[in-house]
Amino acid sequence: MIKIAPSILAANFAKLGQEVKEVEEAGAELIHIDVMDGHFVPNITMGPIVVEALRPITKLPLDVHLMIENPDSYIEQFAKAGADYISVHVEACRHLHRTIQLIRSYNIKPGVVLNPHTPIESIQHILEDVDFVLFMTVNPGFGGQKFISSVVPKIEALSKMIKERGLNIEIEIDGGITAETIVPCAKAGANIFVAGSAIYNQEDRAGALQQIKAAGEA
Ligand code: DX5
Ligand code: ZN
Repeated sequence: MIKIAPSILAANFAKLGQEVKEVEEAGAELIHIDVMDGHFVPNITMGPIVVEALRPITKLPLDVHLMIENPDSYIEQFAKAGADYISVHVEACRHLHRTIQLIRSYNIKPGVVLNPHTPIESIQHILEDVDFVLFMTVNPGFGGQKFISSVVPKIEALSKMIKERGLNIEIEIDGGITAETIVPCAKAGANIFVAGSAIYNQEDRAGALQQIKAAGEA
């Protein structure tokens, strides 16, 4: 089953609650929240107070993507704010296993994120500990960028590795997802898709969301 996680980075922040409700009613499965610190990535976005404000607004799981240095220092705050999924970049974690266990200690689904150029070998020894792997298909930092197709073979290779080891891990894709780019990623074995501009920048958001999902399921 394909799950769509609209990224609120592309939403209108002046009416964020409404923007989240709209995609929930349109059939979204998760709400993707992009946290940027101006150090790990060259942009600053939002923190735990936004997660806390959105928690009572929606029944959907809140999927918090941490693009920050020292994620360990902030996991408790995001947990208390109501995150359901928390993903951390392998490139930002010196002791990844510890960070993943810390996330799990709050009963939150832990995930690990790979930048487009980071090889899957960097996560082969953490797979038993995570609930999902997130592949960046753009360089993190901004919405509305072009999909990097050279990531697709990495998705295929990880799907194979997961099957061979008999693991139950979801694969999420983030960056430049549209009704076109979702197709090779879904074929390669991914099942959760983040979409920011391809949903929020459209006039008919529900139509756009359903079109992306249908393309992934086809
Ligand atoms: C990029 C973020 C993405 C971004 C996706 O650093 O992690 O989640 O919001 O936006 P689109 O779908 O517009 O590429
Ligand atoms: Zn993201």
